[in-house]
Amino acid sequence: MKLFHIPRWFDRDSREKMFDEYVETSGTAHFGFRQMRREEKEKAVRVHFNRVAPKYDFMNTLLSFGIHYAWKRTAVRMLDLKPGHQVLDVCGGTGDLAVYAARRTGAAGSVFIYDMNRAMMEAGRSREVNKAYHHRLHYVQGDAERISLPDNRFDAAMVGFGIRNLTHLKKGFSEMHRVLKPGGKIMCLEFSKPVNPLFRSLYDWYSFHVMPLLGSLLAGSSQSYSCLSETIRMFATALELKEILESIGFVSVSYKRLTNGIAAVHVGQKPILS
Ligand SMILES: C[S@@+](CC[C@H](N)C(=O)[O-])C[C@H]1O[C@@H](n2cnc3c(N)ncnc32)[C@H](O)[C@@H]1O
Repeated sequence: MKLFHIPRWFDRDSREKMFDEYVETSGTAHFGFRQMRREEKEKAVRVHFNRVAPKYDFMNTLLSFGIHYAWKRTAVRMLDLKPGHQVLDVCGGTGDLAVYAARRTGAAGSVFIYDMNRAMMEAGRSREVNKAYHHRLHYVQGDAERISLPDNRFDAAMVGFGIRNLTHLKKGFSEMHRVLKPGGKIMCLEFSKPVNPLFRSLYDWYSFHVMPLLGSLLAGSSQSYSCLSETIRMFATALELKEILESIGFVSVSYKRLTNGIAAVHVGQKPILS
């Protein structure tokens, strides 16, 4: 292990290489620091989540010291869901956000977990907490860049730690906009850049030394966890993400940083007249 090598956070020009325009003009996409033909990224993401699915929840809880549950609860609370609401959880994985949403929408509501990876959804479906809400949860396998659900269908659409993995992230947000009812709300919970430089240095050290080591010891893959840390360093800042959501057509977009900015939650609305 290279003890003193810690990759830098990308600058604005480099971060733009994650956006749809660069992917289209270059024909390439990144998954972590690996650059590949854009057609290959979806396969790389699929292989990655197939590999981590069986230990996904365990590793998330271990590596975040359980804080991801608090982030997810805060994020769902910011959606201000009401009983009876129809909710879409894009890149829903094992369904943590969906379960929190289902508690709020009540028996009259429903939450669709939408993910391209069957292994992730199966891992979630077998959990006791998902079973407890099985009448309210629906599982749909599909690509977030081409959501196979009708226009104007949902009161709320959310995506947690998933938008970073898309080849065309703006396309993903446009699809969420399309399936929302006018006035419907979007929520995006995603990793971001810690604000405090000292805290950021500690976080960098933890991300590139401790996480891959634990990944290798407990999940059989150090590469999956260094790749996770790489994608975070290449991703849009909270302000850039707000600007992207506004460019897609969302209004009243605001964001809240969580745990010094390790994560950020954005909320916005599809205009009533659009
Ligand atoms: C890091 S996990 C997040 C899971 C869950 N939202 C959570 O917060 O725990 C990312 C998920 O996005 C899914 N995903 C990645 N690219 C996708 C795409 N193009 N379409 C649908 N799902 C995708 C993966 O299969 C994976 O389940």
